[in-house]
Amino acid sequence: MIPFSLLAGALVLLVGAADAALPGEALSSTLQQSVVPPYILYFQMTSSSAHLHPLSRSLAGYQISCGATSAKVAGNVTWVPDGAFVHTGKAAELGDSRGLMAPMLSSLRYFPDASARKHCYVVPAERHARYLVRTTYYYGGFDGGRAPPVFDQIIDGTRWSAVDTAADYAGGLATYYEAVVDAAGKQVSVCLARSGATEAGRSPFISALEVVPLEGSVYGAVNFTAYALSTIARHSFGHDSSTIGYPGDRFNRYWEPYSGGNIPVVESQASVATEAFWNKPPEAVFRRGLTASRGKSLDLQWPPAPLPAASYYLALYFQDNRAPSALSWRVFDVAVNGQPFFAGLNVSTAGTMVYGAEWPLSGQTRIKLTPAPDSPVGPVINAAELMMIVPLGGRTHPRDVIGMEALARGFWNPPSDWRGDPCLPKGNSWTGVTCNEDPLARVIAINLTNSRVGGSISDHIANLTAVSSIWLVGNNLTGPIPDMSPLHHLVS
Ligand SMILES: *[C@@H]1O[C@H](CO)[C@@H](O)[C@H](O)[C@H]1NC(C)=O
Ligand SMILES: *[C@@H]1O[C@H](CO)[C@@H](O)[C@H](O)[C@H]1NC(C)=O
Ligand SMILES: *[C@@H]1O[C@H](CO)[C@@H](O)[C@H](O)[C@H]1NC(C)=O
Ligand SMILES: *[C@@H]1O[C@H](CO)[C@@H](O)[C@H](O)[C@H]1NC(C)=O
Ligand SMILES: *[C@@H]1O[C@H](CO)[C@@H](O)[C@H](O)[C@H]1NC(C)=O
Ligand SMILES: *[C@@H]1O[C@H](CO)[C@@H](O)[C@H](O)[C@H]1NC(C)=O
Repeated sequence: MIPFSLLAGALVLLVGAADAALPGEALSSTLQQSVVPPYILYFQMTSSSAHLHPLSRSLAGYQISCGATSAKVAGNVTWVPDGAFVHTGKAAELGDSRGLMAPMLSSLRYFPDASARKHCYVVPAERHARYLVRTTYYYGGFDGGRAPPVFDQIIDGTRWSAVDTAADYAGGLATYYEAVVDAAGKQVSVCLARSGATEAGRSPFISALEVVPLEGSVYGAVNFTAYALSTIARHSFGHDSSTIGYPGDRFNRYWEPYSGGNIPVVESQASVATEAFWNKPPEAVFRRGLTASRGKSLDLQWPPAPLPAASYYLALYFQDNRAPSALSWRVFDVAVNGQPFFAGLNVSTAGTMVYGAEWPLSGQTRIKLTPAPDSPVGPVINAAELMMIVPLGGRTHPRDVIGMEALARGFWNPPSDWRGDPCLPKGNSWTGVTCNEDPLARVIAINLTNSRVGGSISDHIANLTAVSSIWLVGNNLTGPIPDMSPLHHLVS
């Protein structure tokens, strides 16, 4: 398995922490590029900030403010309370005496029940559709501690990453993580779980959850039956903090400004029809780019931080910045860490994108653009995205998912972790549920002895055809015992 924990803190937002002494100019809604480390973006969010989600129309999908009791508006996005998506945990409000905190960060939900194997949000989805999932964490000292607890986050049956926001929180920052997944069924579950790194007595928590549908072409070169993507970096080049807000990305992806240091910046003279691009980048990311003078190579160290050895999805975006004409194109070679990535790339004012779907990277990454020998102008690059390819951790057989969900619905108080994938990840199955290790895991035993469960036993229990034992002793169940004759393996 890839060491997901190395990705912790991939991307970070600043919150206007109530007690932090903020300089006056920080109250403006401009963005500030961080110095180091990478992937950290400092920006000021006020309740009236329009720059956090600069979308001109409402966003599809779910924007959930965890622990909130009423809807909250930030820019053009309405964050809904989380009650419809989670059945467990407790809500906490963070003090925000100055009214500076991004609205969706002013409450959170935490999960004190240490006996539950996971704590799941479940969001309706379209089977096989693609989703951007973003989780945001801002601790705010809700439990009276000094540093946030460390725990894991899970999407469906896959352990996605550790959530360790301590360093960001110490710097007054909230942390966000982003993944891209295809829905295997009619819902996507995003769960938190205690791990070996979670101190006794500490509770996992979450501030915000977003699940946004993507179009099928977006990152379409990746086999989402086998993999998910975990975002490492997404930058719009040639911008320092003062020159860009979040460009209007139709899926609300964050494109952070990246100045490129001493590399010369160009302004584009023509707009790009980004509809034609598979990944649908916002038009704004083409407005500026980095370049090199005639005959010179452009050498870009990007992303700024070294990477863990893994396979990555890398997309690079280019546009000739000159006014459109028959001569406004340029040709150059693209190399990544000395390996040819794309030879003889012809970039016109219409713009273009090149990608590598399973590109092995490790350590520091260097992108080198070498102009064709006769080129009258140097190479140019506008934006880039880098995502780690995460092998999916498997899932439970759909037949058993249907059966277990029906069983859970029949009980009026199933164990609180009877949400999300019944069997996976390994170690985070539903309480009392034992599974085999088939590629599509099967439920082989259910034991809810003395669990104080009430309600009735769903007929759908007969769908659990791999089950060999069912123990429901010591509960308050009523109604008939369903026909279990299809359960040929049942012995106990
Ligand atoms: C919010 O939406 C309105 C109307 O759709 C639009 O005019 C405005 O520019 C949007 N604001 C932002 C920050 O995108
Ligand atoms: C995608 O991955 C699945 C599962 O590993 C595999 O069965 C399938 O053949 C792959 N599809 C392509 C196009 O490689
Ligand atoms: C590059 O593309 C332009 C059209 O966008 C074309 O006119 C030009 O001939 C191409 N150059 C090369 C070297 O292929
Ligand atoms: C079910 O759980 C009870 C109590 O935890 C235990 O005594 C019993 O042996 C278990 N049954 C099976 C089949 O594992
Ligand atoms: C069943 O319910 C009754 C009353 O509702 C309660 O007194 C009893 O303790 C319950 N039994 C179990 C095993 O939870
Ligand atoms: C599950 O069980 C129900 C009720 O017995 C039945 O209607 C349904 O078709 C079964 N579904 C599957 C996938 O076997």
